Amino acid sequence: MRTKRTPWIIRPFTTPDLANVLEIDAAGYQMHATQADLEAYRLRPDSLLMVASHPAPRRRAPLAVGFYAATYLEDFDAAGREWPYYHLDRLAVDPDNRRRGVAAALLADLVARLKTDEPRPRQKAVAYIDEDNLPAQLCARAAGWRCTGATEPCTPRPAAAAIAKTLYRFEYRLSWPSVKITNRLT
Ligand SMILES: CC(C)(COP(=O)(O)OP(=O)(O)OC[C@H]1O[C@@H](n2cnc3c(N)ncnc32)[C@H](O)[C@@H]1OP(=O)(O)O)[C@@H](O)C(=O)NCCC(=O)NCCS
Repeated sequence: MRTKRTPWIIRPFTTPDLANVLEIDAAGYQMHATQADLEAYRLRPDSLLMVASHPAPRRRAPLAVGFYAATYLEDFDAAGREWPYYHLDRLAVDPDNRRRGVAAALLADLVARLKTDEPRPRQKAVAYIDEDNLPAQLCARAAGWRCTGATEPCTPRPAAAAIAKTLYRFEYRLSWPSVKITNRLT
């Protein structure tokens, strides 16, 4: 069990983070993000690109040790009401800094935004995680996210990869509907 957590600083991506973030992404994903992808996240008003950095970086330490990229999307319920939410597109941590609470701090930042976003709070955040990515599933679970199903990805992927893997849908909701359990042990 971890006894002392580093108080990671979570801040918006800036241009000097580019090389670190591309490297972290390449270590974390088979389909690497490009510089253009990151620029798009940074510039588009409907997206977020946040990095984690050490509160007291040593000389020659990487500026960023992890990052996430998210997009604002909308769901519509049966009554046609709009429910804005975040789609977590990417989350990765430098391999040398894993299991140090970096992803936990990044996810906490995203979740904190759910409550404070204007013009109205977003109700949930959603992420799709590969069926064989146990670290990411456990990380999401540890941060209070729940698996709500296995569905198709909403971002394009190569056809072969989409066929080969199931993606689990994980959600963090501000409030979960209560479920009444009618059957009970007799
Ligand atoms: C998944 C990933 C982001 C986790 O980052 P991390 O900074 O190491 O995670 P944290 O240290 O914040 O872990 C928080 C909790 O998640 C769980 N967890 C994370 N990694 C785990 C692992 N390898 N094995 C078991 N549990 C793990 C633990 O409960 C952990 O808490 P603990 O260390 O106190 O036990 C990182 O492994 C990564 O970058 N993977 C490659 C990219 C990726 O898969 N991204 C997610 C795609 S959706």
